[in-house]
Amino acid sequence: MVQDIYHEPVLAAEIIAFLVRKPGIYVDGTLGGGGHSLAILRALDEAGAREGSVLIGIDQDDAALRAAADKLKEYEASTVLAKGNFQAIESIVQRVCSEKGLKPKVAGILLDLGVSSFQIDTAERGFSYLRDGPLDMRMDMDSPVSAAEIINTYDEKELARLIYRYGEEPRSRSIAKSIVTYRLDHGPVNRTQELADIIRGNFTGTDKIIKTLSRVFQALRIEVNSELEVLRRVLYDGIESLDEHGRMAVISYHSLEDRIVKTVFAEKAKSDWGPKGVGLREPLERGSISLVTRKPLVATQEETDANPRARSAKLRVIEKLSQGGHSEWQ
Ligand SMILES: C[S@@+](CC[C@H](N)C(=O)[O-])C[C@H]1O[C@@H](n2cnc3c(N)ncnc32)[C@H](O)[C@@H]1O
Repeated sequence: MVQDIYHEPVLAAEIIAFLVRKPGIYVDGTLGGGGHSLAILRALDEAGAREGSVLIGIDQDDAALRAAADKLKEYEASTVLAKGNFQAIESIVQRVCSEKGLKPKVAGILLDLGVSSFQIDTAERGFSYLRDGPLDMRMDMDSPVSAAEIINTYDEKELARLIYRYGEEPRSRSIAKSIVTYRLDHGPVNRTQELADIIRGNFTGTDKIIKTLSRVFQALRIEVNSELEVLRRVLYDGIESLDEHGRMAVISYHSLEDRIVKTVFAEKAKSDWGPKGVGLREPLERGSISLVTRKPLVATQEETDANPRARSAKLRVIEKLSQGGHSEWQ
């Protein structure tokens, strides 16, 4: 397979098979370089469903929107790209649909969470402990809070809590202490390598350093971009935006994300049968979705060999039920 220099889309064949079935409105909430969007548009085209279909591509990163616009040029007429946070999915869909005179009911939503290879590999964005750059980590460069601000203003307790909660790092307390001590001795921490060196100072051998570096950087990235809060919001609001039998596919890359996706999906799929022993024939309230994938789908060995990023990917798919509670696909 030819490698995409921007970002190689993960589980693309599976996404197409689950998501693309009829003409309609498709939302790629994490447009990135447009790899998945291009695959969706091609699949619609090949199915003769290009007419009557619109793909709304959302990203909060201007660089991603520029790269995707270029990649999706041949499908320009069927595509609307929007800068924004996917937590505003409902209002973005409403706006685009009212501009185009369409009913705001979505056939398919894709969320391919986290950052792109392009963002990680661009040193100036400050996402990587492997590249020296400013301690930034904002996906949306217009947002006010960078990683440096957090590292330099949170107190020791707040830093430890953050590293433990969002990085699940057992040495959170000693790392937080070393950051605060460094600040007192040398002033603010402004570079990714400076932070990486402070973290390395907590180790004597080389064991587990890489894991810890990636956990602390992950924790900061989650905090800078409020990733878990906006994820919860887009799951609820995305389900609201779906048409009957519309589907949502979510690819997560770490356990904190996957836990939220699993929990929200389970909650929305569950019917309320009232207090035990009532003996109802019908639930008081029906679940509004069905789980298309009961267990998360993972990439094949072939895909992970070609694209290491696919290694930690987990795909979960749901389908919005009709008002009567029926799924078209089970
Ligand atoms: C893993 S990449 C997506 C790659 C894409 N599927 C492709 O094939 O090129 C995630 C992208 O989603 C964007 N993103 C992450 N969280 C977002 C959010 N809350 N709102 C909007 N965009 C977000 C990032 O800026 C990044 O460009």
